Amino acid sequence: MIRFENAGLSVPADDPQASERVVLAPCTLALGEARIAVIGANGSGKSTLLRMINGLVLPSTGSVNVRGFDTRSKAKLVRQNVGFLFTDPLSQLVMPIVSEDVELSLKASIKNHDLRREEALRVLDSLGLRHLAQRSIYDLSGGERQLVALCSVLAAGQNILVADEPTTLLDLANNELLQRTIDALEQQVIYATHDLDFAASADRGLLVKDGRIAFDGPAPAAVEEYRRLVRSGSISA
Ligand SMILES: Nc1ncnc2c1ncn2[C@@H]1O[C@H](COP(=O)(O)OP(=O)(O)OP(=O)(O)O)[C@@H](O)[C@H]1O
Ligand SMILES: [Mg+2]
Repeated sequence: MIRFENAGLSVPADDPQASERVVLAPCTLALGEARIAVIGANGSGKSTLLRMINGLVLPSTGSVNVRGFDTRSKAKLVRQNVGFLFTDPLSQLVMPIVSEDVELSLKASIKNHDLRREEALRVLDSLGLRHLAQRSIYDLSGGERQLVALCSVLAAGQNILVADEPTTLLDLANNELLQRTIDALEQQVIYATHDLDFAASADRGLLVKDGRIAFDGPAPAAVEEYRRLVRSGSISA
């Protein structure tokens, strides 16, 4: 279970007249469903909400805890429980060669080098990426990188996966592959997406609007509310 207890983020305002700007208004949430989609306009606060789950962003008010571990005081334990998939895969791929990056994620769990290598290839194979094992991460297409980044996160084996727009760079077939892969995972998955069909398939949908949770309920209803707010002009570009 992930708990937000009146957790919010305010930052110093750009405008010297105002004292602070609310990025995410304090919210109280218990996130326990297997698949939770976070939707909303650009700049609404989705990534901020997701980053709070693994302690990448600490709340300026209230607290967030994961399985009872506070993201501020128990950051290491939180990260052992939460894997984070970034929108930009180059933010997280640290080794130059694909298989090395996946192997790095396995370092804590598999000490033997040969076994680690075998497991890395198995994980890559599970997403049809074994042929990329020896490629440089810099030579991959954006979509290939995004899938390799998913392999690396999955290899680390945390029991919660937080994914920030995991399908943005993917073509139709790979989008479906990623959704099927996520569907089959045992882990709890919380994901932000602008793909409203993908969002609607979740068990629960959170709609974020101007740094507030504007809707929290069944995912198809969250998508419907989002469409309604855009149609009515309450959310505009
Ligand atoms: N640490 C910070 N300091 C100042 N402003 C911030 C900070 N973090 C986020 N913001 C601002 O808060 C708003 C919400 O950002 P966030 O990245 O959470 O949006 P988002 O919903 O993920 O948008 P997108 O769909 O474009 O990814 C943006 O206007 C962003 O510039
Ligand atoms: Mg974002």
